[in-house]
Parts: sequence; C-alpha cells; structure tokens
Amino acid sequence: MPPVLQISVFLSSSSSSSQKKSDPRDIHVGIVGAGLAGLRAARFFEENSIRYTILEGSDRIGGRVYPFEYENGYLQHGAEYLNGIDNEIFDIVQKNELGQERVPDLFMLDENVITFVDGKVVSSGINSIWNLFIDSLNETLFREAESCEKLKTRSVLLRINEHFEAFLEKTNIARENAEIFKKLKLMFCNFFQTEWSSPVGELALENITLWDDGTDDEDSLVLNKFGFQKILEKFKSEVSMKNVLLNSKVLNINYCLSENDSKIRVRLENNTDLFYDHVIVTSSLGYLKQFSRKMFSPELPFDKQQAIQNMGFGSNMKIFLEYKNPWWPENVSTIQIAPKSKYPDRFSKLTENLMVFQPSSWASNILIAWIADNGPSEVGIMKNQELLDAINDFLQENLKSEFPSISKAIRVFRHSWIYDEFALGSYSYLKSDTYQQNTIENLTAPITSDENRPLVCFAGEHTSPQMYQTTVGAAESGLREAKRILNYYSMN
Ligand SMILES: Cc1cc2nc3c(=O)[nH]c(=O)nc-3n(C[C@H](O)[C@H](O)[C@H](O)COP(=O)(O)OP(=O)(O)OC[C@H]3O[C@@H](n4cnc5c(N)ncnc54)[C@H](O)[C@@H]3O)c2cc1C
Ligand SMILES: *[C@@H]1O[C@H](CO)[C@@H](O)[C@H](O)[C@H]1NC(C)=O
Ligand SMILES: *[C@@H]1O[C@H](CO)[C@@H](O)[C@H](O)[C@H]1NC(C)=O
Ligand SMILES: *[C@@H]1O[C@H](CO)[C@@H](O)[C@H](O)[C@H]1NC(C)=O
Ligand SMILES: *[C@@H]1O[C@H](CO)[C@@H](O)[C@H](O)[C@H]1NC(C)=O
Ligand SMILES: *[C@@H]1O[C@H](CO)[C@@H](O)[C@H](O)[C@H]1NC(C)=O
Repeated sequence: MPPVLQISVFLSSSSSSSQKKSDPRDIHVGIVGAGLAGLRAARFFEENSIRYTILEGSDRIGGRVYPFEYENGYLQHGAEYLNGIDNEIFDIVQKNELGQERVPDLFMLDENVITFVDGKVVSSGINSIWNLFIDSLNETLFREAESCEKLKTRSVLLRINEHFEAFLEKTNIARENAEIFKKLKLMFCNFFQTEWSSPVGELALENITLWDDGTDDEDSLVLNKFGFQKILEKFKSEVSMKNVLLNSKVLNINYCLSENDSKIRVRLENNTDLFYDHVIVTSSLGYLKQFSRKMFSPELPFDKQQAIQNMGFGSNMKIFLEYKNPWWPENVSTIQIAPKSKYPDRFSKLTENLMVFQPSSWASNILIAWIADNGPSEVGIMKNQELLDAINDFLQENLKSEFPSISKAIRVFRHSWIYDEFALGSYSYLKSDTYQQNTIENLTAPITSDENRPLVCFAGEHTSPQMYQTTVGAAESGLREAKRILNYYSMN
C-alpha cells in the first residue's frame, strides 16, 4: 500500500515560529496502548517512516479484541461482529473470506428465538403480538429521536415504558398475559443493555440515531471461526513488533514543556522515563475515568475531564459454556429467558441479568451467555465452579419444561472486562442525564503547545463520533490522530 502522504512534502517546510519544527523523520511518537486504535496509528507511522513506540501495559496486543483458541478456531472474549461495509476492517474480512452470515441487531425479531417466561415457552400467539409491537416500537424510537427535540435527551427506558403502557391499554390484554408481556418488556430493555452496554435508564434516545455505520440496515456481520484473530494478525503484520513494548504500563504523561526541553515525558510503572515529541493515548474510557487525574501533568483541561465523566462506559461480558453435546435444537438462534419470579439463589445479580443465550456460530458445543448491568461485577468474583453450578441450576430450572434432557455445562471461559485493569469496562455509550452536544468532540480534542503542536492526542473507540463502541471506530480514530501529527509538519 502506498504511503498516504509523501514524506517529500515536508522536506522543504521551514517554520518562522520561534521553535523550529523538525523534519518529521526526526520525531518520535509514543503510543499508549496496542488495541486497534494504537495499532492503526502505528501502521500509518510505519508507512510514513516516522519513528514510534507503542507502550502496552498488558502482556498481549489487541486490547478489547481478544480471541482465544478453542478447538480448531477462536472464540472472542471481546469484539466478535462487524458493523458497516465501508471500512478497512470490512476489507480485511472480504479479502480473507472471514464473513459468515448477517444477523439483525434486534435479534428478538428472528423467528428462531425461543423465549421463556417463568419457566414456560411463550406461545406463538403472544410472540407474534409482541413482535409486531417491538417492530413498531423500534421504528417509533428512531423517529422520535430524529424528529422530536423534546424527547431526544430522555432515556430510552422512559420512552419504552410509556409506549408499553399505551400498548397494554390499546391491546386489551388478558390479565394473566399482561404479566408475560411485562417480562417481555424487561427482555427488550435488556436487549438495549447488552447491545449498547448501557443501563437503559441512562441511554439517551438521541444516541441511538447518531450512531451510524453508513449502511441502511443495522445488521451486523457474523464472522467465521477465525474472525477477529485474523483481523488482529493483519493489524500486527503491519507494524514492527520491535517497536511494541509489552508489560509497559504508563503511569504519567507530563506535557509541561520547558524552555530547553521540548519533549513530553512518559513515566512507566517501573520508573523509567521515556521522551517523545507527540503522544497518542488510546486507553479505554473506563481507564480514563479512573486514572486520568493521575495520568496527566498538568491535569487535563476542564472540558475534557467533564467529557470523560459525561460519556458512559458499560460493563458487558460473555460467558462461554462448554457442553459435551449440544442439547438445544440446531435451528435455535437465541434462547431468551425471563426467569421464574421467585428463583431462589445467592447470586441474584447474576441470575437477574442472565437473559440471553446464543449458540456459537461455529463451535457446536458452545453456548454463549451475555451479561450486562450488575451481572458482570458478580461474575467477576465467582469461582469457575460456582459460576458453572449457578448457571446450570438456572438453566435447568427455567428450561426443563421444554428441554427435559438438558445437560450440564462442563467448563466455562470468560474474561471480566470490568476487572481488567486496562479496560475497566466494555465500551462507551452516550448518557441521557449528562448528555451534551460536544462530549465526543471534547474527548477527542488534542492538547497542543503554543505553536499548535499536538502534544497529547486522544484516540480509541470512545472518540469516534459515529462508530463509538466498535473496532471500526477505534481503528479510524487511531489513523485520524496519526494523520493529525503528520499534518502538523505539512502546515506553514
Ligand atoms: C464484550 C465485548 C464485546 C464487543 N463486541 C464488539 C463487536 O462485536 N464488534 C465491534 O466492532 N466491537 C465490539 N466491542 C468493542 C471493541 O472491542 C472496542 O471498541 C475496540 O476493540 C476498542 O479498541 P481501542 O483501541 O479503542 O481500545 P482497547 O482495545 O481497549 O486498547 C487500548 C489498549 O491500551 C492499553 N492500555 C490502557 N491503559 C494503558 C496504560 N496506562 N499503559 C499502557 N497501556 C495501556 C490496554 O491494555 C489496551 O491494550 C466489544 C467489546 C467488548 C468488551
Ligand atoms: C426447529 O426444529 C424443531 C425440530 O428440531 C421444529 O420442531 C421447529 O419447528 C423448528 N423451528 C423453526 C423456527 O424452524
Ligand atoms: C429499527 O428502526 C430503524 C429506523 O427505522 C431501522 O433503520 C432499523 O433497521 C430497525 N431495526 C430493526 C431490527 O428492524
Ligand atoms: C522498564 O520498562 C521498559 C519498557 O518495558 C524497559 O525497556 C526497561 O528495561 C524497564 N526498566 C527496568 C529498570 O526494569
Ligand atoms: C536553557 O539553555 C540556556 C542555554 O544553554 C541556559 O542558559 C538556560 O539556563 C536554560 N534554561 C533552563 C530552564 O534550563
Ligand atoms: C448523543 O445524543 C445527543 C443528543 O441527545 C447528541 O447531541 C450527541 O451528539 C450524541 N452523542 C454522539 C456521540 O453522537
């Protein structure tokens, strides 16, 4: 691939400002984080012969892209599906034939979903009434978000509740069925929570329309058993691994320049100081929420600190359940469960949030449980055997009417993102209560010197105005910030 910008453009540049700009070939950029944002920035520098070093705190690259080997393929603790078609990751998927099938984001409308309420399968009659309702509710929420100024900043939960009340009244539903519909509504809310990784009471209505992957339908692409492993290998192959320092946690970035020293000082956990002309920070929003005050000297500008607090960061995780043999029918795409009301157990935060189970798209004996809200904080402190027992009991209790021969899962695999010291959560979302027009803009704004040199730049999923939450947004943000740095040398 040809360089995006030719180095020769910069050779003749001379600056009239007091501090002479150097040749970009003499600079050294520090990149904090080897997720897709950091790796994409590094590739740009590689292509443009600019010196860079990636400082990665953990012992692996990929960040929230985290494939792990299973049988003859890879399961994904983190990113798994792909959104959009007009982007570099989709190109990798096409070239390597990684795509498998498209699925609707609103999986509940898929006809192969089985829904259990209070231990019984929901009848097809109720299902079809409900599907008509949520289909139109989905349209309504989008329409309101786009057209009605008053409603935009209200939470998705509030709107769902109001429409649901109207639906109950209008449809004249038998009392015993009303309880079932209430549970179905809970599952619909849970859908938003897992999809957006955000408490549905905090998600701003407007955000569901701002997010845009550039396609008309909002389907996402399911990848085959190599999926994000191959994508990550491709990203890795385009950077020099000698420039990637693993186990190198950044504690502090000092961008206070002195008269004679124009370098930014990056202090690692082991007390080593490194000096760069520019730094790109790709730490997750969760990490910034917890550490940004200590991480930057001087403190970040007020607008940025506020934006870090105002954008939400979710807790989503998956639990992979391994069975000796699958007990679910092959044609089932999702098992949705609103548990028995008085289900007795010690792990209520877990079981209240265990609503969605999906067979792996390729590993025939793996069922994936999705957990959001308060579930992940409980799961993170449970031992494997405890977790297995709790989920086995839960499934047995809730599904036995339909699947009397349900077997027990024999192993679990999971990664607790909220306890991962470098992620501290899953992905970002726009909050209704603190919603502000320029939150993402403020998260993105670089810190510049008096001569407009971008000293500290910010990339990562949470800085993508239209595709926050995603790998596509993350990679694009890394490229954006790398270009920002090179652009500085092409100006004047
Ligand atoms: C459960 C789950 C499911 C998801 N599903 C999808 C999906 O289906 N499709 C999709 O597109 N996206 C999905 N995502 C989101 C996607 O994974 C992220 O948006 C994307 O990977 C983020 O990339 P990033 O480079 O911005 O951040 P990260 O991947 O978090 O990279 C940041 C890196 O910086 C490192 N770091 C942080 N702080 C420091 C420090 N102080 N010093 C040194 N290193 C540091 C971290 O270790 C990490 O490697 C999912 C995420 C999760 C958690
Ligand atoms: C799925 O398969 C079962 C038999 O295994 C069948 O009874 C059921 O109707 C099928 N469901 C759908 C939606 O095709
Ligand atoms: C929800 O509604 C929006 C807006 O009309 C539409 O683009 C989207 O495809 C709908 N989703 C589903 C799953 O129907
Ligand atoms: C500190 O970490 C850096 C980066 O990983 C490494 O190059 C250096 O050798 C370490 N220094 C000490 C004293 O361990
Ligand atoms: C900067 O360098 C000049 C000349 O070498 C020296 O006189 C001055 O004291 C230095 N300033 C600082 C703050 O170190
Ligand atoms: C979230 O929604 C608000 C409107 O309520 C909007 O102004 C804001 O830009 C949205 N955030 C993003 C990142 O699109």
